[in-house]
Amino acid sequence: MIPEEKIAEVRERAGIVEVVSDYISLKKSGANYLGLCPFHGEKTPSFNVNPARGIFHCFGCGVGGNAVTFVMKMEGISFPEAVKLLAKRVGVTIEERLPTAAEKRRLDEKEQQLAIVAMAAEYYAGLLLRDRAGEPGRHYLAGRGVESEIITPYRLGYASEQWDGLSRYLRQRGVPLEQVERLGLIKPKSSGSGYYDLFRNRLIFTIANVHGQPIAFGGRVLDDSLPKYINSPESPLYNKSETLFGIDMARQAMREQRAVIIVEGYFDHLALYRAGIRNVVATCGTALTSGHLQVIKRYAERIYLLFDADSAGRKATFRGMELVLDEQLPCFVVEMPAGDDPDSFLASHSAEEFNGLLAKARPALDYCLRDLLSRNDTGTVAGKKAVIDAFRPLVQKLADSRERNLYVSELERVLDMEPGSLTRGERTQARPAVAATERRVSDPALSLLALLARYPEIAAEFRAAAVEELLPQDLRPLAAKLLECIETGAGVDFSALIAPLAETELGRALTGVLMDDSHLADIDPHRALQDYRRALEKQSLQQLDAKSLRRELQYLDSDSPRYMEIMAALNDLRNKKSQLL
Ligand code: GTP
Ligand code: MN
Repeated sequence: MIPEEKIAEVRERAGIVEVVSDYISLKKSGANYLGLCPFHGEKTPSFNVNPARGIFHCFGCGVGGNAVTFVMKMEGISFPEAVKLLAKRVGVTIEERLPTAAEKRRLDEKEQQLAIVAMAAEYYAGLLLRDRAGEPGRHYLAGRGVESEIITPYRLGYASEQWDGLSRYLRQRGVPLEQVERLGLIKPKSSGSGYYDLFRNRLIFTIANVHGQPIAFGGRVLDDSLPKYINSPESPLYNKSETLFGIDMARQAMREQRAVIIVEGYFDHLALYRAGIRNVVATCGTALTSGHLQVIKRYAERIYLLFDADSAGRKATFRGMELVLDEQLPCFVVEMPAGDDPDSFLASHSAEEFNGLLAKARPALDYCLRDLLSRNDTGTVAGKKAVIDAFRPLVQKLADSRERNLYVSELERVLDMEPGSLTRGERTQARPAVAATERRVSDPALSLLALLARYPEIAAEFRAAAVEELLPQDLRPLAAKLLECIETGAGVDFSALIAPLAETELGRALTGVLMDDSHLADIDPHRALQDYRRALEKQSLQQLDAKSLRRELQYLDSDSPRYMEIMAALNDLRNKKSQLL
């Protein structure tokens, strides 16, 4: 609820150099400032701050943004929180706008829902802590070696065998039961009226959001019956692909250690917590998703995967690793003796021994290569091929070309192949989405924007040449805004300009080209505009792959509309190519 003009004022007043200097030391270097990147470990500085444009960019790890996004990442806080924090530092008073009626209704509704889940958590905790009905739960926990002192800080609970324990408890406190149903905690009876509780005879784990507010539950049976776990269904409060169990308890430690350990189970989380390890989160019965990683990225930048040492855990490790590498985050795999999970390991080993496992965690690709070698007979051609086919796509995800080359060399070495034989005859190029920062710098679309930013005098020509329409979709609004600022003579606020793209791959690449445009000095901007435009045109033609269009043609009726469409496109393509070449 912060008014837009206040955000702009904060951005304007908070000098990027001053803001960043609160956290790391910067040295002037030409027009820019330089320091050690706080977001990845490095010994030689590649973290750049451009005071004139109000942006930062690290040429090492690719992060980039403005003063607000810097504070968000540093403090692990949300956008409005960062704006408020900066406002205080630069003396801007923010009187938060009152919410509109519709906003207020939404907020009230959310508050009410949070209050209901909190009441339910209290109900379950009360049973486990002090009710006679909670005895089976206490007995079960004791049997697994869990001390009763941990029940309260951990917000464990117990659901009794009653069919309507929770609904009665909440009704007595005036809670409308339809609301409780929306949160998935009770279900309507199929016959007649009334509701029954979702959780019965189960040990309850309280799932909270990053602020520690309960939003859902997971419940474990006390015996061998199935299903072993039931989780709350998704609800207005609970989105499974973005929720990590234990994030509220782990947040601080994740930030301090800049690392997170991801486990599969509630009890694994509990075991690590009891061993004094705090930077741990668990996926709640779903596979790791990129949504989970977006949340994690706010607090940590190194990921340790600690999944069960069985075949399901191995699969989860491979899947998780791919996602983490896609996010360009360093990924490590912690290995345990076969058959163990973190909980069972810690039941028979000390915390020191567990820390030993952590210290021996291997980079994901090392783990992966060794795993593949142990599963394939590399004495055979088929075995070699299987290893190569599984390993290379993962290597291609690495942004750093030196690292990529090292892994390919290593692959050649362990497979007894001649050095260079895997890359011979093909261009060693990273997959597009991956080495974005490396690639985008020579990207004509980004170069065009950097050119326009440096030489506003080409704006009219830029418009006349209809360059905007050639740009990738996600850059068009930005180009339009930039043109508008130039044409109205308003002056360009770069830190505001990049704000909508902050935290995206494209935004990072953009801060990279805007950070240092000295390569654009002493050039003829008009010629450069035409050159880049041509390059862009060629590029878009290449993407329109004639081959795949022809292939599609084979399967179409010659009088179908799609057939006509493709024929027209091919014709068009031929004409344009002959004009260009
Ligand atoms: P314990 O057997 O109590 O040690 O549990 P665990 O945490 O080791 O469980 P396991 O390794 O079997 O499963 C890991 C996680 O997957 C659990 O913590 C649950 O979140 C989830 N899970 C396991 N079984 C089920 C199930 O039957 N249904 C659902 N929805 N989730 C499950
Ligand atoms: Mn277990």
